[in-house]
Amino acid sequence: MERSTMIQETEIFVRSFHATDFSGHDYAHIERVRRLALHIAKQEGGNVKIIELSALLHDVADSKLGGTAETVATFLQGKVTEEEQEQILDIITSLSYKDGTRPPMQTIEGQIVQDADRLDAIGAIGIARTFQFAGRFGEPMHVPGLAPREPGDRTGETSALNHFEEKLFRLKDLMNTNTALHLAEERHRYMEEFVNRFKQEWEGATGEIG
Ligand code: ADP
Ligand code: NI
Repeated sequence: MERSTMIQETEIFVRSFHATDFSGHDYAHIERVRRLALHIAKQEGGNVKIIELSALLHDVADSKLGGTAETVATFLQGKVTEEEQEQILDIITSLSYKDGTRPPMQTIEGQIVQDADRLDAIGAIGIARTFQFAGRFGEPMHVPGLAPREPGDRTGETSALNHFEEKLFRLKDLMNTNTALHLAEERHRYMEEFVNRFKQEWEGATGEIG
């Protein structure tokens, strides 16, 4: 199938998969990850077809969003070669953060898509997505005195603010590529500033802050 037709069909498929998402995984997230991934690829190399398709499809296999790897495999059937299908499935099924202890991505294509997904989890957009996720899944925004969960603990009570300690502040040092690390550093500082101000305002600071 011609490349541009296939990309268009993928966009339509992915847009409809994410159409009713209000957990920070809407189609706009997918578009940002795609753009970031293509930007990183310009500096770092890699197979652009695999990178773009993996970025577009990266959250369709997420069980939390009701997807499975089979959904993606069925969609790709006949559109790409078997080898390409395997490469894409391999990337999107090993992308997720879990507790941050998974083995590093093996291929440059996987490293780039993972970096792009992680960049969209930090900075101003990362902050917004975290509070949208918390609202969607009934998590409080802040509980004073509630300790962040240990890495890997996905049970137990937590809060949107704790999610910064549990995951978001760890992402900068987990970037695979230097291009992404460079972008992550500024976003990381911005989140630190946000969390500091949040705590000051929560504690009732009046007047000028910072
Ligand atoms: P991954 O795609 O790496 O597995 P998730 O889909 O779990 O990551 O998380 C994507 C984004 O969803 C996070 O960066 C964050 O903004 C939000 N999120 C995930 N878990 C939580 C949580 N427990 N509380 C608040 N936000 C969360
Ligand atoms: Ni994602």
